[in-house]
Amino acid sequence: MKNEPSYDPRSLVEEIGRLKRQKKAVILAHYYTRPEVQDIADFTGDSLALSQKAAQTDASIILFAGVHFMAETAKILSPDKKVLLPDPQAGCSLADSCEAQAFERFLKDYPDHLVVAYVNTSVGVKALTDVCCTSSNAVDIVRRIPRDRKIVFAPDRNLGNYIKSVTGREDMVVWNGACHVHEEFSVEKILALKKSYPNAPVLAHPECKKSVLLTADYIGSTAALLKYASTSPADTFIVVTESGILHQLKRENPTKQFIPAPPIDSTCGCNDCQYMKLVTLEKIYRALRDEEPEVVLDETLRRRAERSIRNMLDGTFI
Ligand code: 13P
Ligand code: SF4
Repeated sequence: MKNEPSYDPRSLVEEIGRLKRQKKAVILAHYYTRPEVQDIADFTGDSLALSQKAAQTDASIILFAGVHFMAETAKILSPDKKVLLPDPQAGCSLADSCEAQAFERFLKDYPDHLVVAYVNTSVGVKALTDVCCTSSNAVDIVRRIPRDRKIVFAPDRNLGNYIKSVTGREDMVVWNGACHVHEEFSVEKILALKKSYPNAPVLAHPECKKSVLLTADYIGSTAALLKYASTSPADTFIVVTESGILHQLKRENPTKQFIPAPPIDSTCGCNDCQYMKLVTLEKIYRALRDEEPEVVLDETLRRRAERSIRNMLDGTFI
């Protein structure tokens, strides 16, 4: 990285706003990013809402404040736009747990199966997929697939097993991948929190392990957990997902209390995705100024991957 002066946060926010207007750029941020990043975004959402937004925007530049597979998804849907990812190291342990060549070999054993994959995958895996899903729509998508169609689900074993339990599709073949953040929550520590806050519902993301999900009063995607907290009469909640969601929870419910569930081994008491936290205001400013790092995709692969995301967005996979 070039030698750069350090900027004070207020002038960074002003400069980001100026560059955004000048370059007709839109900033999309996931709920797991840093609070100050969510605050300057034009749109903050979960994976499904962000992919819908990326498909619709008329901006010339999409700056994705999130991780690599999200920016890649935006580029797949909007190939004529410049898509910027402020830190190219912002990966995803779940996407990395399903490498495209290994997945292609795996699928050879299931030639007659419909392939459903979480958007938390690389463009190479999406190119091998019939229909993508997110944690918001995965159960609905699997429910819509006729019972006589066999299914492979990738890459998250926890979400896959949760879908099996809700839909009764016990024969669904599930790839053995996981997200390091959601795998790490401690059942014992959640049970201890339940004792301290007996009236607080436990809200959990379906990427968590089954033993953790069994402690939950409500299981849902990031957007579903936000909706539940806003509409529930409870005033205190135990939150079992990535800590970035707390910012939006507090913004939408300033009088309610949210207790983050801790991971098995933590001194900070919260559970951060270190990839999401790589996105800072300073990196956003530099990315907009220099128009890089840019997401560039092979066009043949992009076209093959686009079908699986369009099938999810249009509901046209059956
Ligand atoms: P959702 O945005 O679908 O809740 O997914 C959570 C996640 O882990 C994103 O990386
Ligand atoms: Fe990937 Fe997990 Fe981070 Fe989401 S929270 S980006 S699934 S590593």
